[in-house]
Amino acid sequence: MKLLVTGGAGYVGSVVAAQLLEAGYEVTVLDNLSTGHRDAVPAGADFVAADLADSATVVTADFDGVLHFAAKSLVGESQQRPELYWRNNVCGSLALLDAMRKAAVRRIVFSSTAATYGEPESVPIDETASTAPTNTYGHSKLAVDRMLGGEALAHGLGAVSLRYFNVAGAHHGFGERHAVETHLIPIALQVATGERDKLVVHGEDWPTPDGTCVRDYIHVADLARAHLLALDACQPWSHRIYNLGNGAGFSVHEVVEAARRVTGHPIPVEVGPRRPGDPAVLVASSERIRAELEWEPAHPEIDVMVADAWQFTRSRT
Ligand code: UFG
Repeated sequence: MKLLVTGGAGYVGSVVAAQLLEAGYEVTVLDNLSTGHRDAVPAGADFVAADLADSATVVTADFDGVLHFAAKSLVGESQQRPELYWRNNVCGSLALLDAMRKAAVRRIVFSSTAATYGEPESVPIDETASTAPTNTYGHSKLAVDRMLGGEALAHGLGAVSLRYFNVAGAHHGFGERHAVETHLIPIALQVATGERDKLVVHGEDWPTPDGTCVRDYIHVADLARAHLLALDACQPWSHRIYNLGNGAGFSVHEVVEAARRVTGHPIPVEVGPRRPGDPAVLVASSERIRAELEWEPAHPEIDVMVADAWQFTRSRT
């Protein structure tokens, strides 16, 4: 079976491409390398350097399905340069769907996000929660979720949106590499390698047990496996949405403690002000994907995620 992976030179896309190859699929990666890395495209995958806007030149009837990751994904940047998010994420996805319709490629798994929910009314968040994004990144991903719903209803597409919470860890040499790092675990590890001298905790006055924000971390290998299950579950004329997290939260202090245990480095922290736009607690209910697709996380332990990210970081420094 032949699959197109858009954004397969990025963090999650490269891990999914690697797992698809391990499972025996033929894989073509489409990526414009704006934030991805050519050497993150797994050996064995064909590579096309192109924008989503040029999907029509790449998507042919030879493909049995698409896994769609290519997107801008920084919340802060989406507030400062919203036009990038509308053009890349929304117009780019529309071009991809147009090309798929023309080529009669009928299955897609889409990389959506917990940011579609915004500030939760209650936790854990399930798929029936209201969607009220607090940033353009979340709005752009929600727009694509809705686009997929319409395409399924009107034209018979089989689509699954996976809404990720906080992704962590690495898989078989594929991990997280951002030019500008804003994420908690990579920053903690940069302190451990000496690249930074401390980590700034964004607020200790949140209404949580230790005063720092709580997030639901999911191992990238567990997340990737869900994409293979979702691909099998794509049904024509249907758009399904699944949350993906572990259903358990870890505070910023708990994650930093895990990084200290894993690295043996004291990882000094300084408490700074709250980061605008951060919700206090984001924890997923993944009951739907567990029940319907029999997905189970193999690595829910925060120490395993941090250890795998640490091994990846050290392999590159
Ligand atoms: N944090 C710090 N110090 C840092 C970095 C992060 O205290 O140096 C805190 C943040 O304030 C937050 C927590 O650590 O409370 C996790 O922050 P991340 O930046 O690692 O992740 P986010 O929860 O902000 O964002 C993630 C994804 C987004 C997605 C969002 C959905 O990275 O793409 O979840 O809610 F939109």
